[in-house]
Amino acid sequence: MTAEETLAKLAQEVSACTNCALHTSRKKSVPGDGPATAEIMFIGEGPGFHENEQGHPFVGASGKFLDQLLAQANLTRAEVFIANVVKCRPPSNRDPLPDELVACDKYLEAQIQAIDPSIIVTLGRFSMGKFISDVKISAVHGQMRKVGERYVIPMFHPAAALHQPQLKPSILGDFAKLPEQLNEARVALGKPIIEKKIREEVPDEKPKQMSMF
Ligand code: URA
Ligand code: SF4
Repeated sequence: MTAEETLAKLAQEVSACTNCALHTSRKKSVPGDGPATAEIMFIGEGPGFHENEQGHPFVGASGKFLDQLLAQANLTRAEVFIANVVKCRPPSNRDPLPDELVACDKYLEAQIQAIDPSIIVTLGRFSMGKFISDVKISAVHGQMRKVGERYVIPMFHPAAALHQPQLKPSILGDFAKLPEQLNEARVALGKPIIEKKIREEVPDEKPKQMSMF
């Protein structure tokens, strides 16, 4: 099975999953979006109201802000994979419970294995907790560290920055560092550095004739 097929199969499984209580109140499950070839994976907390309606991650207010943050990093949604630690909405956007995190982890784990990203950016403390324990996000945000075979960068949750405007410069600064960190991770993992074209070069409509006269 290709990575793409694995992701599609996982999305299918998630939509029928009844492994935790969150399935009883979900409207649409939100498995995650993005290409199987993504070099960076962003992992949030769980679907909110709009995500539960639409079945896609980060489509509400935090999603709008995430788009701005991605732009800071010279990234677009089309080239990253965005998922959550729980795939169904916790009622009233409450925190996911420990047993829900445990029940849903197999899907996230399988997504990570299929995509094999160089960098995982965790958004908020629940997704950070999957990779890094006993640290405060305020102390380690933006710092890249190796966890197993890849690199993890914990970041504040975009919603936290929306609610606490004093965090905004910090999260913007962390995202601005991402391109450099991605290159660092590529070098360390022995993956080639591909210079991203800022703009496609558009050739002149009619190439000028070289003429001696
Ligand atoms: N917040 C999250 O953590 N994930 C989403 O998908 C949307 C909002
Ligand atoms: Fe299944 Fe995860 Fe949804 Fe719980 S949150 S029902 S484990 S897909």
